[in-house]
Amino acid sequence: MSIKAAKRREDYLPPDFTVDHIDLKIVLAADATSVSAVLQVTRIGSHERPLCLDGEQLTLKSVEVDGIAWTDYQLSETALTINGVPDSFVLSTVVEIAPAHNTSLEGLYLSDGAFCTQCEAEGFRKITYFLDRPDVLSMYDVTITAPQDEYPQLLSNGNKLASGHNDDGTHWVKWQDPHRKPCYLFALVAGDFDLLTDEFTTQSGRVVALELYVDKGKLNRGQHALDSLKRAMRWDEEVFGLEYDLDVYMIVAVDFFNMGAMENKGLNVFNSKFVLADSETATDDDYFNIESVIAHEYFHNWTGNRVTCRDWFQLSLKEGLTVFRDQIFSETFNSPLATRIKQVKVIREHQFAEDAGPMSHPIRPDEVIEMNNFYTVTVYDKGAEVIRMLWTLLTPEGFKRGMRFYFDRHDGQAVTCDDFVNAMQDANDIDLSLFKRWYGQSGTPRISIAQHGDKLTIGQHTPATADQASKQALLIPLQLEMVPSNGQGESVQLTVALKSETQEVLLPVSSGNRVLSVNSGFSAPVIVEQQASLAELGSILSFAKSDFDRWEASQALFKQAMLANMEGDASVINETAQLMAQFITAEQRNLALLSEVLIPPSVESLVAGLEQVNVDALLNSHKAVYKRVAIECAPMLEKLLAALVLRDEYAYTPEQIVQRKALNTLLKLYSQCQDTSDMLTTLFTNADNMTDTLTALQAAQLGNQSTFESLMQQFEERWQDDPLVLDKWFALHATTERPDILARLQLLMEHKQYTLKNPNRIRAILGSFAFYNTAGLHLSDGSGYRFFTDHLLAIDPVNPQVAARIVTPLLSWRKFDSDRQDKIKFHLTRILDNPQISSDLFEKVSKSLA
Ligand code: ARG
Ligand code: ZN
Repeated sequence: MSIKAAKRREDYLPPDFTVDHIDLKIVLAADATSVSAVLQVTRIGSHERPLCLDGEQLTLKSVEVDGIAWTDYQLSETALTINGVPDSFVLSTVVEIAPAHNTSLEGLYLSDGAFCTQCEAEGFRKITYFLDRPDVLSMYDVTITAPQDEYPQLLSNGNKLASGHNDDGTHWVKWQDPHRKPCYLFALVAGDFDLLTDEFTTQSGRVVALELYVDKGKLNRGQHALDSLKRAMRWDEEVFGLEYDLDVYMIVAVDFFNMGAMENKGLNVFNSKFVLADSETATDDDYFNIESVIAHEYFHNWTGNRVTCRDWFQLSLKEGLTVFRDQIFSETFNSPLATRIKQVKVIREHQFAEDAGPMSHPIRPDEVIEMNNFYTVTVYDKGAEVIRMLWTLLTPEGFKRGMRFYFDRHDGQAVTCDDFVNAMQDANDIDLSLFKRWYGQSGTPRISIAQHGDKLTIGQHTPATADQASKQALLIPLQLEMVPSNGQGESVQLTVALKSETQEVLLPVSSGNRVLSVNSGFSAPVIVEQQASLAELGSILSFAKSDFDRWEASQALFKQAMLANMEGDASVINETAQLMAQFITAEQRNLALLSEVLIPPSVESLVAGLEQVNVDALLNSHKAVYKRVAIECAPMLEKLLAALVLRDEYAYTPEQIVQRKALNTLLKLYSQCQDTSDMLTTLFTNADNMTDTLTALQAAQLGNQSTFESLMQQFEERWQDDPLVLDKWFALHATTERPDILARLQLLMEHKQYTLKNPNRIRAILGSFAFYNTAGLHLSDGSGYRFFTDHLLAIDPVNPQVAARIVTPLLSWRKFDSDRQDKIKFHLTRILDNPQISSDLFEKVSKSLA
């Protein structure tokens, strides 16, 4: 393998040619699939340059220009360059590919015997020679041929035009997509699926056929996905006036998939994890995630497909915006508090760490080696926070006006992030030039607050990041809540638009007897430097109007107690435990809030927030505080748990979701200070749903080793033939803190359901271990690093995208003690020294060691 060269955003040039139309004829066979492509090519502008097409791992069979065999071309590992072409011509190529050998799951590959494709970002070049860039938009005709018996269903984008049978036992289907699209939105699926169908009538009265394709026998697990799709379709009409634009919407669930799902025009391909659910096998969280990913891919039809990206540096144009859209959709159909907390945890636990590490980049990156490495929490989730700030600044009405204007101006085009902000600006008569800095500047801004009477001086500064030394002030909408410190009187909320390094703000009411809750609701993706006192946090926890801010206060309390305890200061622990106990007594009826507040911040989120980490002390302190809080709350926990265990038959309703969540939080906490074996065993045995089953396992995992082992064994016996369910079991094992964790992982990887060809299995075991078993990864003798690295080296040649994703926790080695630093560096160097290293791993590991 050879390492790709870095590409820079600033070097963007428009394409030399465009392809108005492509006619693909694909004859499927696992080892030798034939792809014939007929391209209508037109030169853009006046130049003499040859036509340079992208192509990788293709065996070229023939080239013709305007029907004449063509020999004036050069072929390389990555390109086909055709010389002497006219200004407008028809190019015909035939290539052969081998889907059965494609383990990268990019391009055309086999998933459990079904053919499927994944072309974003640059996978289409593994199917045929093409201008594989998102600013080349073409019309597609696609004819698929395959053996009828094995592959009764042949799918591609758009509408089915014709079909027929051949004498040799094969059949064919011809598809036509009436919308121009970039090649990353092309899709093909061929297989033998069960089909769930429904219908949706759009607001203008058109009837859309909905088709959900799942593995045979899994039909009864598809209803929630289909219902979610219909909710998303209706919501986008009601909120943004956006209607679906084809006669059929197809979703296919496959088991082998690198990411969550893909928004191919009219033919989404999904990781089956984000489609299949019933109460026995899926948790409430799974239901939530399915609804949100289904909505996300559906929303891409407008934000991504109708208006797409000019180049891949603009990825956040569609991803940040679409994540934001799926977030506000989820906030409408689920608890807004729980939903917002989930989003903020992703930012704190992963995005802040990315900002602080060697891969830091702005939401619109400037330099990329492997594009697949930039499907990041920064581009997606920080990108969504940036859109949310626009929503705040412009108000929902102004934002929606901007969206309408954006589609009026850019429908059918490939555009940039600047184009998006300009549309928002022009529709609202506001100057957003300062706001645009969020797109170009990486790093997490720090906010400082100094209070002098009723006047605040608010400061902002962004520390240097690995990719950018100097930083500028940003436009930050900062929300504040002035909370009455003793609960007497109303809270006052205000939003300040920060524009410079320091800014003075006059408070709207007297600050006497009030506590400031800063960055209320997480109005901006920033870190607030000012440390509130325990008393102040206690007031916010008890009296803030915003439940989100009350949760924030609880997290700050836990964190302060954990950090103070590391320094040997026990007074903070005591006070925190008492505040939590008071809270649980006062709020015993508010299960929604209780079930969030009584979860301490994860070890991993604490690691992400620290510049230097003493792993052993942090782990100990985390446990000590959690336990101390449990002891203080025990009488109340007992009382609440007794009231919680009696419940109705499972239903995915808001009331029941809250109850199950509360049971989970309270049982985990209670198990810190009490022997809960009997309770957990009873819960596990009687559970009629996966959420409660996992609650029993998680609570046992945290402290009750023998109960954990025996329940886990029962779980495995029950679910050993269902890999998707077994992933939960793999992940629980992989995140357990135990001295022999590596031997345990080794056993898991010898399980009959484990295969390193399936990304879900890798993520369940090695991904969970690396991200969420800090104790195991950082074992002081370095054996965790060695074990993990050995497996990374084995995965890289099979599936570089997955290897590069899970290497992330090693990249931040600079945080740890010098002995661990040396050990991690040693193993990262082993990766870098591998002559076969992928571009994916190379980019991340070389940056980390630089
Ligand atoms: N556009 C997809 C989504 O966000 C993600 C596909 C990315 N795939 C990849 N291999 N980089 O829904
Ligand atoms: Zn997306």
